Amino acid sequence: MTFDRAIKIAPSILAADFANFGAECAAAEAQGADWIHVDVMDGHFVPNITFGPATCAAIRPHIKGVMDVHLMISPVDAYIDAFAQSGADVLTAHIEAGPHIHRTLQAIRAAGCKAGVALNPGTPASAVEDLMDMVDLVCVMTVNPGFGGQKFIDMTTKIKALRSMIGDRPVHIEIDGGVDPKTAPLVAQAGADVLVAGSAVFKGGSVQNPAPYGENIRAIRAAAEGVWA
Ligand code: DX5
Ligand code: ZN
Repeated sequence: MTFDRAIKIAPSILAADFANFGAECAAAEAQGADWIHVDVMDGHFVPNITFGPATCAAIRPHIKGVMDVHLMISPVDAYIDAFAQSGADVLTAHIEAGPHIHRTLQAIRAAGCKAGVALNPGTPASAVEDLMDMVDLVCVMTVNPGFGGQKFIDMTTKIKALRSMIGDRPVHIEIDGGVDPKTAPLVAQAGADVLVAGSAVFKGGSVQNPAPYGENIRAIRAAAEGVWA
């Protein structure tokens, strides 16, 4: 993975056909996705359950680019090796998932993955200030995690604070929740470069009819990049 601050669209397969993840990932990439975002939920840290490392490993061969695994689980540490072995490129843990995020981030890098830290909407930017040299990505949740298709919560002030905290470090700012062509410019303007989008990418299409995925991805990208026009 090389670092850049260009806008990257990361479709969340939470909004894809759960019986067809491999083909959905391949279709999203063929239609212009930069990363594939994989939402792992445990029914404990968040009030919903999705899947674990075996599913990530099964999906991996169908993704050519970056597999971005968002762990909405608690505890995290006991599962890091399994998710790393599943082929994740980025492993993101929530700062709210336990008392030892520092140890968790060390373990993620030691397992050979890029390390991400995610912040719920109620967690301030200052909570990650002492972690800047041990992360490759900060994920700003713009919904309360657990479900796709929720309304965007404006976290622009937090994104700007993180952007200045990061300075010239090679750290991505990822936005997760309610990203669509209307909200993408707000977060891009504030300094985000990775835009996760579930419903706004997968709506209107299917593996048999993937063209809408491409239209949706292009619409989000154009809206985000329009900020710089
Ligand atoms: C929410 C997940 C998101 C979700 C985004 O808990 O982390 O990745 O899939 O879905 P949309 O884009 O529909 O808000
Ligand atoms: Zn996510």
